[in-house]
Amino acid sequence: MIELKKEMANDFSISRILNGMWQVSGAHGDIDPEKAINEMIKYHDSGFTTWDLADIYGPAESFIGEFRKKLEKINGKDELKNSQALTKFVPNPGPMTKSIVEYYIDKSLEKMKTDCLDLIQFHWWDYNNPSYIDALIHLSNLRDKGKVKHVGLTNFDTERLEIIKEQGLEIISSQVQYSILDQRPEKLMIPFCQKHGIHLLSYGTLLGGFFSEKYLNSPEPNRGDLTTASLKKYYNMINAWGGWELFQELLQKLLQISEKHGCSIANVATSFILEKPTVAGVIIGARLGISEHKDDNSRAFGLHLDSEDTLMIKSVTEKSKDLFEIVGDCGSEYHK
Ligand SMILES: NC(=O)c1ccc[n+]([C@@H]2O[C@H](COP(=O)([O-])OP(=O)(O)OC[C@H]3O[C@@H](n4cnc5c(N)ncnc54)[C@H](OP(=O)(O)O)[C@@H]3O)[C@@H](O)[C@H]2O)c1
Repeated sequence: MIELKKEMANDFSISRILNGMWQVSGAHGDIDPEKAINEMIKYHDSGFTTWDLADIYGPAESFIGEFRKKLEKINGKDELKNSQALTKFVPNPGPMTKSIVEYYIDKSLEKMKTDCLDLIQFHWWDYNNPSYIDALIHLSNLRDKGKVKHVGLTNFDTERLEIIKEQGLEIISSQVQYSILDQRPEKLMIPFCQKHGIHLLSYGTLLGGFFSEKYLNSPEPNRGDLTTASLKKYYNMINAWGGWELFQELLQKLLQISEKHGCSIANVATSFILEKPTVAGVIIGARLGISEHKDDNSRAFGLHLDSEDTLMIKSVTEKSKDLFEIVGDCGSEYHK
């Protein structure tokens, strides 16, 4: 039985399946704001209390603000303590002065209608520009000032994570792509995180929905069939990894495992990552008001994959290309 909650720091626990809000950005179908906020209340009431978002995900931060307002109205102010919103700071590379960093954090605070961000996850596009260290120093100072509870990273590779740690900066989490198909974090990132007590947050674990019965035995999609930005992103990953035919072989194995455990293919894909060392949570994208899989996803908590299951998965993944060699370490897909 996988734990439902994970304590990431003394004063900070999250739901181990987080609701991903890239899916409200507009690139995954039209979202009706009112419907979306009502859906967010339902997620919260079902125990899915943690949201992953970013300043660049369209209206996501404002949705959190509206959701918090509604939650307080329905359940009272104390209920807000049971909700966590993990946003990201994704600036264009340039000088990262104290006032620039604070300006953007203040904007997030205002939109999210809160006076302290639970976790700010920092993304940096260009390692040739060393200002990312300045940004992290200012974010750490904002934490000490009380505007941010914790500082984390997203899409940084292990080499830069090491440089950041050498600066004495306190980082509690690293958000990276991690799935049965993309096991790059196991090479360098996870050993480093184990050594330094850093939690991993995983995305792409369901490959935008490709890890589901919907794509089992289905013909290779055309570009036009890829109706969300997420499907487009992970279709490219499937091709880099080994292609559609090998992916179908993998889905067949996942089906056999899911039938053995009486669960879904998505549950197998989620549990595979949730049981890995240092993984605090798996982020699953939620197309609020368009589709929802809460009941199915909650079944991943009751699942434990045994050695026979992992060997079956390995019998296919060992035939794939090495994504670490092709793409590079975690986050390299976002860097030149
Ligand atoms: N840090 C970064 O750079 C980064 C990058 C990408 C994503 N993320 C984060 O990760 C989140 C997830 O995004 P993602 O692109 O990786 O997508 P994902 O979680 O791999 O896929 C989400 C899609 O999977 C399908 N799905 C969910 N549960 C299912 C179930 N039980 N059975 C069948 N299908 C199911 C749904 O498709 P339908 O809606 O079609 O049913 C859903 O829209 C984002 O919202 C964001 O928070 C971060």
